[in-house]
Amino acid sequence: MSKARYRSAEWFAREGKYGFLPRSWTKSQGFSSDLLDGRPIIGICNTWSELTSCNRHLRDLAEHVKRGVLMAGGLPLEFPVTSLGEPLMRPTTMMFRNLVSMDVEETIRANPIDGVVLLAGCDKTTPALLMGAASCDIPTIMVSGGPMLNGRFRGRKLGSGTDVFRLDEEYRTGQLDRADLDAAEAAMSRSAGSCMTMGTASTMASIVEAMGMALPMNGTIPAVDSRRAVLAQKSGTRIVEMVQAGITMSQILTRESFENAVRVTGAIGGSTNAVVHLLALAGRLGVEFALDDWDRLGRDIPCLVDLKPAGRFLMEEFFEAGGVPVVMNRIADKLQLNARTVDGRTIGEIIAGAVCYDDDVIRPLERPLTHDGGLMILRGNLAPGGAVLKPAAASPALLQHRGRALVFKDADDLRARIDDPDLDVDADTVLVLQNAGPRGYPGMPEVGSMALPKKLLQQGVTDMVRISDARMSGTAFGTVVLHVTPESAIGGPLALVQTGDIIVLDAAARRVDVELDAAELARRRAELVLRSPHYERGYGRLFVDHVQQADRGVDFDFLVGHSGTPPSKVSF
Ligand code: FES
Repeated sequence: MSKARYRSAEWFAREGKYGFLPRSWTKSQGFSSDLLDGRPIIGICNTWSELTSCNRHLRDLAEHVKRGVLMAGGLPLEFPVTSLGEPLMRPTTMMFRNLVSMDVEETIRANPIDGVVLLAGCDKTTPALLMGAASCDIPTIMVSGGPMLNGRFRGRKLGSGTDVFRLDEEYRTGQLDRADLDAAEAAMSRSAGSCMTMGTASTMASIVEAMGMALPMNGTIPAVDSRRAVLAQKSGTRIVEMVQAGITMSQILTRESFENAVRVTGAIGGSTNAVVHLLALAGRLGVEFALDDWDRLGRDIPCLVDLKPAGRFLMEEFFEAGGVPVVMNRIADKLQLNARTVDGRTIGEIIAGAVCYDDDVIRPLERPLTHDGGLMILRGNLAPGGAVLKPAAASPALLQHRGRALVFKDADDLRARIDDPDLDVDADTVLVLQNAGPRGYPGMPEVGSMALPKKLLQQGVTDMVRISDARMSGTAFGTVVLHVTPESAIGGPLALVQTGDIIVLDAAARRVDVELDAAELARRRAELVLRSPHYERGYGRLFVDHVQQADRGVDFDFLVGHSGTPPSKVSF
């Protein structure tokens, strides 16, 4: 192989001091000259952090990637980027997804990296790394951290996130005490890995596999299973081959792979968060892919995977049943089978002959979990720019609903009043949350699946129609209209709704409306006073000044597109 073939030769193959400095300082890590003599340099982009428990094993996994890179004749160099841990970060990890993407993009471009392996796990780490790498467009493979082991508590299966909502309701209604909750906490999260429900992390890892950005079974192998280490090793070998063949990310992530991602999201009952992440990723790559594609492409897709939050099982069972290839095999006639993958085969070749080992977990087409697996995109006078609804997580009876609005001005107002025994609310009320969108909160947090009022929980109410410009955790459930665009903080119609207005949800017609005429809406708009942004300086200011709305994936306006990795100036 010729030194000049690789981008890293601009650093390591130069004569004089321009080559001496990068070679000498890199050799200080104990590398011999031949390791820097024309081999492809593979960056291993790692979101390991003790502040991100879901990703705490990724340093171990990186060692297996390195083994594969070395076996194939490359030189692996691991580098950290900012990590995003859902349970700890405030106000919301979504506010920092774009920041991490910038970290990834600029680190790749500024360094002698010929190909990159992305190590991600917890929800936003996956899209953040993909977006950053996409804006560089070099050969790229993702290795997900994998789901944690199933939770078990007193004979019950506990699913990450999903059962937190149920346990919280049982605690609030006196069915559990504090000691019970302590025991449940330990029983739910009992190994390394990401949430083992079909939440956002599992959705994104499965989508990454379906889009061909990872090797087969990336989406489902448990984090602590030795087969994930093998997948990491094979990914290390494969990225070297991709560099040698010049296979870049944009050759894998085409319009066809985005179409497959939408359909697989429906078939696995995936998270609504995939909507904003894939829109942002498409924007980086210049792929024509819009919000309405989610509805159009997902409309005839049944949900086949019986996993929490929509169903019964967890990721260990999904893996044992055959994982994403089986799901794709079952909906093969809806897929773009010629889409390329990092594996080197087409997706059609990978999924051909996939065998299902448990038809209760991955159901056959004749026996789906729900017929409407795809996400719905709603319009109407409340959401002229669109809104998202996950029918698989909703109560069928509420998908056609007319009810009186109960408005909360923001998440603090919601928390302060939702359990007020005097709250004027019944099961038909529509809960409306304002100022929780990309700019308003800011960061569009996962507060859209508002907790139900305590007094209704005590009456046995389990679901209500809820509407907001926020997102919802992939592990949550309910008849929840999300991502209302434009958001209330910039004067979207959601900001004009008042308690007592009549809201109509007509999912079949893909509409969500408030029964107010144009004159009344105009009168209220004239009186609307917008709040000042929360941040005056720093990254928060950058965020509120440049974040786009949900229908654009909540990416920054100045990050859309890609710049490749042009040669940079030498600064010494
Ligand atoms: Fe990290 Fe769910 S909290 S994946």
